[in-house]
Amino acid sequence: MVQSKREMRSRIAISSEDRFFVLTGAGISAESGLATFRGSDGLWEGERVEDVASPRGWQRDPERVWRFYSQRRKAAAGAAPNPAHRALASLEKSLGERFFLCTQNVDDLHERAGSRNLVHMHGELFQSRCDRCTRKAFADARLYMCQQDHLRCECGGRIRPDIVWFGEVPYHMERILAELQRCTVMLVVGTSGVVQPAANFVHWARLRDGAAALRTYYVGPEHPANAEAFTQVFEGRAGERLPWLVGMSEEDSVRGEA
Ligand code: OAD
Repeated sequence: MVQSKREMRSRIAISSEDRFFVLTGAGISAESGLATFRGSDGLWEGERVEDVASPRGWQRDPERVWRFYSQRRKAAAGAAPNPAHRALASLEKSLGERFFLCTQNVDDLHERAGSRNLVHMHGELFQSRCDRCTRKAFADARLYMCQQDHLRCECGGRIRPDIVWFGEVPYHMERILAELQRCTVMLVVGTSGVVQPAANFVHWARLRDGAAALRTYYVGPEHPANAEAFTQVFEGRAGERLPWLVGMSEEDSVRGEA
């Protein structure tokens, strides 16, 4: 097969046979103005994980949980994709179905940048569901700032954010595991490498048959907890490093085109 222009421009060697598995975390949305979780200004500084991101916290104080996710909805609705989101959307445009994006993020900035072949393993901020029955999650951008705003399902259950909390099973694991089996390049962006199971994806991919040829890259301003598992760590902000790494020109990254 003939290499595309993008494949030739990219700083990560891309052959026409390569399949990308991209994992993103809160860091990719940091330059869009959305707070990350850990670190000095992180969301978990102001809130305890068990209060707002666990089934027990929901049972104890749904008002507090909804206030937290309503604030996240408000922040995400006011944010725009940055060059890192656009670089991934543009890479997908070149690679087609050889590109798969798994995000731990619940915001919709990847979609708004143009990504299509993606899964949200921790759920989606603009979806809600019943906490009792199995009725499908539904699109919901409402803000629930006090108890009077809360909704009930037809079954009597309470409507909760469609977020995967600590102690719950991440979404799309079957698809994720299948993609980990067949990728040849793994690109991980802006995630601390401490939250399971995502922190182990790079290890799982390296343990599979035929993993000798697998290349694994990390992009972020600091080394993640699982840094030793990567072929190369590219230090820097995703919005600056990613467009350069995947061969996207500066004007394109500003315009949002491939
Ligand atoms: P964290 O807040 O733990 O980590 C954010 C990472 O982004 C850190 O490694 C930073 O170095 C990096 N970072 C910061 N600014 C960046 C930038 N401009 N470009 C690139 N990287 C940058 O967030 P996650 O690791 O994504 O789960 O968190 C994983 C999960 O833990 C989240 O999905 C959330 C959380 O608790 C749930 O709420 C279920």
